[in-house]
Amino acid sequence: MSLRLKDRVAVVTGGSRGIGREVALAFAKEGAKVCVNYLSSKEKAKEVIQEIELMGGEAIMIKADVSNRQEVERMFEEVMNKFSKIDILVNNAGIFYHGSVFNFDEEKLDAMWRVNVKGAIYCIHEAVKHMIKRRYGKIINISSTAAIGTASPETTLYAITKAAIITLTRRLAFELGEYGINVNAIAPSFVLTNMNIRGRGVEEIQQIIEKRKAVASLKRVTEPIDIANAAVFLASDESSLITGQVIVIDGGRIDYLTHSV
Ligand SMILES: NC(=O)c1ccc[n+]([C@@H]2O[C@H](COP(=O)([O-])OP(=O)(O)OC[C@H]3O[C@@H](n4cnc5c(N)ncnc54)[C@H](OP(=O)(O)O)[C@@H]3O)[C@@H](O)[C@H]2O)c1
Repeated sequence: MSLRLKDRVAVVTGGSRGIGREVALAFAKEGAKVCVNYLSSKEKAKEVIQEIELMGGEAIMIKADVSNRQEVERMFEEVMNKFSKIDILVNNAGIFYHGSVFNFDEEKLDAMWRVNVKGAIYCIHEAVKHMIKRRYGKIINISSTAAIGTASPETTLYAITKAAIITLTRRLAFELGEYGINVNAIAPSFVLTNMNIRGRGVEEIQQIIEKRKAVASLKRVTEPIDIANAAVFLASDESSLITGQVIVIDGGRIDYLTHSV
């Protein structure tokens, strides 16, 4: 069977850990050359590169803060110098802080907008320059079910950054379609990554897992590989006529504010 992303070049932001790591590995398994972007987890990024090399793939790691425009420009220059093209961009780097409009930390609110929204825009700006020239590109933005309306408390301010990502996806699909660029989003529900487990004890995590299972029709929590599998599909030519869409990966959660029981 032929590899689904053979010789494609992919940039995965926040590829050092969690969902991004799984996406980078899945892309490499399907034959893509991968740029694993990271910010602070250098050792973890190295491990991803080593795993890719062990499977016979090719990858580079680039440290860049996606919320810093100059660093993003430099990252894309480095990718072009190394691989001469960019076929796939996954805007995965993201941060989450609890907070509601009644109680929030201004700096954390700004940081979420800078990383989750402006970071994606900066990366798209750089990637699209090269994609337009070749009239080919796949952009995959990682949103969240928070944006669709899951009923988790204290997530509203994060949710609106992820809602912005959905609007960005839909609008760009119109703007970039004529250049052969597909723009889609994935909206995962709760995934067990550092984003959710940091600062929590084993018992509390287990309780959260049970709670999430209970509100999922399929009675299991979302795993990074569930997101990676969808990302491979959206990055491949199997999805060539799909654009402007949001794939919700939540096991059929029933606790949506908009249509809850
Ligand atoms: N986990 C969930 O429940 C969930 C649900 C829905 C959507 N999502 C979304 O999925 C994406 C990945 O989340 P995750 O759960 O895998 O989170 P995670 O385990 O906390 O990993 C976050 C990744 O983003 C990178 N990152 C953070 N800030 C960055 C910056 N300024 N510049 C470059 N990289 C940066 C981190 O890099 P370093 O470690 O190298 O600093 C890390 O690789 C995020 O966009 C998140 O909003 C997550």
